[in-house]
Amino acid sequence: MGKRSAPRYPEDENKGGGVCCCLCGCCCFLLVLVALFVGSSVYLVYTLKPKAPSYSVSKMAVSKFDFSSSDLTLYTKLVATVRAENPNDKIGIKYADGSRTVVSYRGTPLCSGKLPTFFQGHNNVTMLEISMEGRHGFGSGLQEALEESEKAGNVPLDVYVTVPVQLLLDTYDLPQLKVNVHAALVVDSISPKKPPTIKSATYQGNVEY
Ligand SMILES: *[C@@H]1O[C@H](CO)[C@@H](O)[C@H](O)[C@H]1NC(C)=O
Repeated sequence: MGKRSAPRYPEDENKGGGVCCCLCGCCCFLLVLVALFVGSSVYLVYTLKPKAPSYSVSKMAVSKFDFSSSDLTLYTKLVATVRAENPNDKIGIKYADGSRTVVSYRGTPLCSGKLPTFFQGHNNVTMLEISMEGRHGFGSGLQEALEESEKAGNVPLDVYVTVPVQLLLDTYDLPQLKVNVHAALVVDSISPKKPPTIKSATYQGNVEY
């Protein structure tokens, strides 16, 4: 094997060397491009330090929660106070038109509304008051389940928020994103008689590009 491959070796090396050189050149060029790209991304990420905004429901006020037995509907009107924090040092957030918020009980939407459109500067905390109302048909099952939850003092409510946001770096527009937040709350009661106490809350969110 050694004897047969030995004479071929220099030939192969010469041929391969040419191809290899060319490949190397391309590779180097690509590597430099990749390095530049990664470098500038890392630089941007490090200087901008983008952080996800955070949201939490701090208060709820129910003004209407009326079962109508004549047409079997439930009319709900409430205001959720949401604390929105933009922790970024350089990135501003413009909350655009086209948002939607929904409060639902065990899969049944009770009321809906939308966020105000506004611009939130960097390192800013804003309390948003979101008014929601809705009239929904209900079966007797829903009313019974709600009454039981009320009695137990554990009413599970899901708050869904979908909002298109425009990120701004100084005055430059960054790509538009869509932020989705799901808050799973447990309140002690949902009635206009007394303000609900939020007993627990868990949040999930994601961003669509
Ligand atoms: C946060 O932003 C809101 C909306 O732009 C503004 O009204 C409020 O004054 C800002 N708060 C602080 C502390 O800058």
